[in-house]
Amino acid sequence: MRKPFVAGNWKMNGSRDSVRTLLDGIKAGMADVSVAEVAVCPPAIYIADVQQQLEGSAIGCGGQDVSTQASGAFTGEISTAMLQDFACRYTLVGHSERRTLHGEDDALVARKFSVASAAGLIPILCIGETLQEREANETESVVSRQLDAVIELDGIEALADCIIAYEPVWAIGTGKTASSAQAQEVHAFIRQKLAELNADVAEGVRILYGGSVKGSNAEELFGQTDIDGGLIGGASLMADDFLAICRAAR
Ligand code: PGA
Repeated sequence: MRKPFVAGNWKMNGSRDSVRTLLDGIKAGMADVSVAEVAVCPPAIYIADVQQQLEGSAIGCGGQDVSTQASGAFTGEISTAMLQDFACRYTLVGHSERRTLHGEDDALVARKFSVASAAGLIPILCIGETLQEREANETESVVSRQLDAVIELDGIEALADCIIAYEPVWAIGTGKTASSAQAQEVHAFIRQKLAELNADVAEGVRILYGGSVKGSNAEELFGQTDIDGGLIGGASLMADDFLAICRAAR
């Protein structure tokens, strides 16, 4: 049985005040979230505040990105050890905004995945196709290529302890959600692809859907056989919206 997982990706949003209000709201509603494992990925500068506010709660914290380097002259970067110093259990790697706006390619994302999992963080590996790629019928080859970069570097077993987030780029922040059938089709493809290499890894790995998930569509998406929860952007910034999505993950 895969435990459903819901993570909020706050991106570059918030202030110390709004973070406090948001977390107070989420914590207050967590009693109704009986099943899902829940995490938030704040902007790095707020992780210390978040860690303090989450003390004693079951909600986990994750980075939005991580460096491939351990320390040194890498201005602006944050290492795995720094995330762990502030009790982060997870880190996103390869979010489409990192891939497109910061030129992160599959090889770099695979290295980030590798250092994160070697350090004992749970990488949340983001993959997904652009609209142009979907229209050219390349969805499967794109997600395959993105997964293969990780598998070639670290082996299929490395995926046993990670979370995969399938996020069609055309659905991120656009209000255009993939239909539950569209999403399920890709999730099933991903699991089948992994099963060809290792059936146990494929059965155990959690594959989240991300891209305009809301309270109103979460239940249907999460009801699909191969969808194990969600990576939530916009709707993770309001406690009630986020909690509604967490409750839908059963
Ligand atoms: P969205 O973002 O929910 O705002 O579409 C999802 C994401 O980028 O992880």
